[in-house]
Amino acid sequence: MSTEILMKPKTSKKTLEDLLTEKRKFAPPKKFREQANVKTEKIYQEGKNSLKFWEKQAQELVWSKKWKKVLEWKLPFAKWFVDGKLNVSVNCIDRHLATWRKTKAAIIWEGEPGETRTLTYQQLSREVNRFANGLKSLGVAKGERVVIYMPMAPELPIAMLACARIGAAHSVVFGGFSAEALRDRINDCKAKVVITADGGYRRGNIVPLKQNTDEAVKETPSVTHVVVYKRLGKTQNTPWTQGRDVDWDELVANQTAVCPAEEMDSEDLLYILYTSGTTGKPKGIMHTTAGYLTGVKTTTKFIFDLKDEDVYWCTADIGWVTGHSYIVYGPLANGATTVMYEGSPDWPDKDRFWAIVEKYGVTILYTAPTAIRTFMKWGEDYPNRRDLSTLRLLGSVGEPINPEAWMWYHQIIGKGRCPVVDTWWQTETGSILISPLPGVTTLKPGSATKPFPGVEADVVDEQGKPVKIGAGYLILKQPWPSMLRGIYGDPERYKAQYWSRFPGAYFAGDGAKRDKDGYLWLLGRVDDVLKVSGHRLSTMEIESALVDNPKVAEAAVIGRHHDIKENAIVAFVTLKEKIGSNGAADREEVINELKAHVVKKIGSLARPDEILFTAELPKTRSGKIMRRLLRDVAEGRALGDTTTLADPNIVRTLKEKYEHLEG
Ligand code: WTA
Repeated sequence: MSTEILMKPKTSKKTLEDLLTEKRKFAPPKKFREQANVKTEKIYQEGKNSLKFWEKQAQELVWSKKWKKVLEWKLPFAKWFVDGKLNVSVNCIDRHLATWRKTKAAIIWEGEPGETRTLTYQQLSREVNRFANGLKSLGVAKGERVVIYMPMAPELPIAMLACARIGAAHSVVFGGFSAEALRDRINDCKAKVVITADGGYRRGNIVPLKQNTDEAVKETPSVTHVVVYKRLGKTQNTPWTQGRDVDWDELVANQTAVCPAEEMDSEDLLYILYTSGTTGKPKGIMHTTAGYLTGVKTTTKFIFDLKDEDVYWCTADIGWVTGHSYIVYGPLANGATTVMYEGSPDWPDKDRFWAIVEKYGVTILYTAPTAIRTFMKWGEDYPNRRDLSTLRLLGSVGEPINPEAWMWYHQIIGKGRCPVVDTWWQTETGSILISPLPGVTTLKPGSATKPFPGVEADVVDEQGKPVKIGAGYLILKQPWPSMLRGIYGDPERYKAQYWSRFPGAYFAGDGAKRDKDGYLWLLGRVDDVLKVSGHRLSTMEIESALVDNPKVAEAAVIGRHHDIKENAIVAFVTLKEKIGSNGAADREEVINELKAHVVKKIGSLARPDEILFTAELPKTRSGKIMRRLLRDVAEGRALGDTTTLADPNIVRTLKEKYEHLEG
């Protein structure tokens, strides 16, 4: 890391000056403020005593036994609500059954081909209990792990909640990951059961989830059963392994709708979610029961101003943390109606999101800047075709939102009427940590504004000294309830990764700027993690996938700024042998082979946009690849400082070659 990186955030074309001079401000509309869950700044005062604040929030949960102590903190290991007992599925379902919410829609689902299903809390309870009993009948017990590799169908949250009910930890693997990626995750957490489907729909195509699962479980000794939900239906010719594969419908057919919830300790593992870090191997981020639920429940209620009448839609995939916290656990813990959509925003047409808003009367919409920029490109006609008048609040997550995209979202989708909450957080943080409160905070387009009450964030320089006004590194100075409890099976990596760069503080891996009003502006990653269309990838992971191909000697991957995706993946590769005599055609063939290889190793989300061959990579005298210079090459900038290079000519030649290719 260097300050040079900070001064030139790789994710934004905007300079710091542009951000510093952003003058537009939007105070909460009076009508919104008057009805908001949080109306005054007072909550920030309460948040100053963070233990008291979070304890008050935890009291909103249903406990079978109260905690003895709010926090036990042995840096960097935290225990929240020590000795408390509760169950997440009881908090997300059973508690609502005793109220009028019993018949309220919990989940409204829309499949890509257009089917729709609504599950009331009562129906959800029935499905979860039956499936929980089904899992038990397969021998899944408290403390074991279950991997879920499913399309966006209601059976996905049903499976998660069933795991929570019986005390098994789930690990959801995003459906876009390949068989090999799935295999590695299953093996890392030693899952007993894998839950999948015969397929899912994406842009009219079928995602071959079962085939990938079959491929993966060839090499996963811990797996005893694969449960298959027939999303596509019985007509589909699904490969079947007798004895191992279990049909979801048959599994639940004879189960009762009563499955007593396991009493879980506050600190029992709720789930593991794998995410990309700065090394080749994904990390299993661990979230536990009470603190996580307190974090997601509170933030959903305050930041999304959630009310009983709302129809709330978060467009993420449940395979990512946003879906875990803000499609499933946060909304359901609040007794909300949460919308789930299976497919792509441009299927069958580019107005699909707006058609969904109109059809269900969505009031709160939570999506990603990459989607907003895509909608901007498609033009206003698509949203303008539809009735968006039910919307009252908009949210953004996953990457920095550029002020243009913010303004478009605010004006074209929100018609200037809906506050926009730009929410900063991570897989590791479990819930939103920096965000406006829509009834209180005056918004500035592009700024995530302020830490949530009870959260202490800071911007520091290289030495860890606070930066009052200007850019630095984002750190968190106090533990928070929904924080990760570690990396599955690797406590040392947890310490080294997050708690060693700035002693005593959590280092998020993001750059941030603080303006004169104390507002925070997130600047993107300052490490080797890339955001590509909102998906989190590691450059090292893609490099390892490339080097795994026998033709490749060495590879360096960087993110080049991309107007819509935030980053395009560019790989610089040295081959072991010269490309054949057929010139461009041969080169094209190898490029395609290498792209396909990355897709096989990780999944299509990691497919490089560009591959460039080079005889050598620019390295320092100690042999470290200078990715910073490769980024200069790919973004067409003058080369930064090259004095530490072993041979500065390499990067100069590379630059000429790249410019020539780009034409
Ligand atoms: C980035 C997604 C700027 C950031 C919830 C972080 C953001 C990474 C924002 C975590 C935001 C997320 N503004 N950047 N509002 N939200 N990020 O684990 O770089 O997929 O470190 O979690 O996304 O990505 P993850």
